[in-house]
Amino acid sequence: MKEIKVGIIGAGGIACSVHIPNYQKIENVRVIAVADIKAEVAENAAEQFNISNVFTDWEDLLKIDEIEAVSVCTPNAFHAEPSIAAMKANCHVLCEKPMAVSVAEAQAMADIAKEHQRILQIGLASRFSPGSLYLKSIIDSGRLGQIYYGRAVAMRRRGIPSWGGFTRKDMSGGGTLFDIGVHAIDHVIWLMGAPKPISAFGSAMTKFGDRHDVINPDWGAWDVDNFDVDDFATGSVRFENGAMLTIETSWASNIEGIGGSYILGTNGGVHVVGDTIFEQRNGKLANTPIELPSGPGGHETEVRRFIDAIRNGLPSPVDPEEALNVQKIMNAVYQSTETGRSVDLS
Ligand SMILES: NC(=O)c1ccc[n+]([C@@H]2O[C@H](COP(=O)([O-])OP(=O)(O)OC[C@H]3O[C@@H](n4cnc5c(N)ncnc54)[C@H](O)[C@@H]3O)[C@@H](O)[C@H]2O)c1
Repeated sequence: MKEIKVGIIGAGGIACSVHIPNYQKIENVRVIAVADIKAEVAENAAEQFNISNVFTDWEDLLKIDEIEAVSVCTPNAFHAEPSIAAMKANCHVLCEKPMAVSVAEAQAMADIAKEHQRILQIGLASRFSPGSLYLKSIIDSGRLGQIYYGRAVAMRRRGIPSWGGFTRKDMSGGGTLFDIGVHAIDHVIWLMGAPKPISAFGSAMTKFGDRHDVINPDWGAWDVDNFDVDDFATGSVRFENGAMLTIETSWASNIEGIGGSYILGTNGGVHVVGDTIFEQRNGKLANTPIELPSGPGGHETEVRRFIDAIRNGLPSPVDPEEALNVQKIMNAVYQSTETGRSVDLS
């Protein structure tokens, strides 16, 4: 089996906790290069994971011809440029979420993937947990009937990221919506069968992140004075098939930290990812248990599927068009915040 050689762009938290260790678990896959604008960060990752080529400029990494796959693990505002350059350099790309910070960037990424016939997979790992994959198979079998509503919830009571550029718009492009809202939105829409969004309305707010009196027990102090992104966002999306989606996400709110995503179908409803189907059976209301399988977590499976797609010439495990639709919805919520109006996505 041919060895697949991998390069890593951005060597911070997610690169060292998810991407590199999971590549290193796979037979005949080798991470041979790492780039980070901070030399020390790149060198530390190289030492920790025994990676031979170390750069401070990702353009140098892309000059290594034998690299076939690249992980882009930089802050959100720096996803599009290296992803596009990597695909132009003939590499397949696993790029962290959100796809980009603007629809134009995300569209350009999807277009280049198509033009150069490269796999572009966005790091929407919630799809790949064993329970999620099983639930997807149940929904796709038609068991829940027609899916007409989804609720995408990612609420933290206090969980403001205190590292990296998450709380600065110039680095992240957005706040909680781009950080954790993106997972919930993508997860629920994917389970709903990826209907096409036609309009969105919503609002993104800053209620906690710019206040010195707010505590953040798990992650500690963040840069309050330069906090310029949302810490709460809500929205409503209409799809071409008539289905609707509600969005609720926060890094901080005065409610217990809750998930709470669910999907409603004409024959059954489920929490995401729950172990019960709520339905009507034989003239009675029934709470039918489903046995969720166990297995590797979503992050490991996303990396394995990326490699599998490269090896076997499969389409991207996360269709770039679906990630682009999620980007359109999130940017529509930001646009709607400014205008107070619904945004046409048709
Ligand atoms: N899928 C998930 O569950 C998940 C979890 C956490 C983070 N993320 C995503 O991963 C990305 C990185 O997050 P993180 O927590 O690892 O942040 P981080 O700050 O720990 O790491 C980012 C690294 O990128 C480097 N960098 C910045 N600009 C660069 C450039 N132009 N070229 C090369 N390196 C550059 C920084 O120096 C830093 O070391 C973000 O987009 C975030 O949304 C995803």
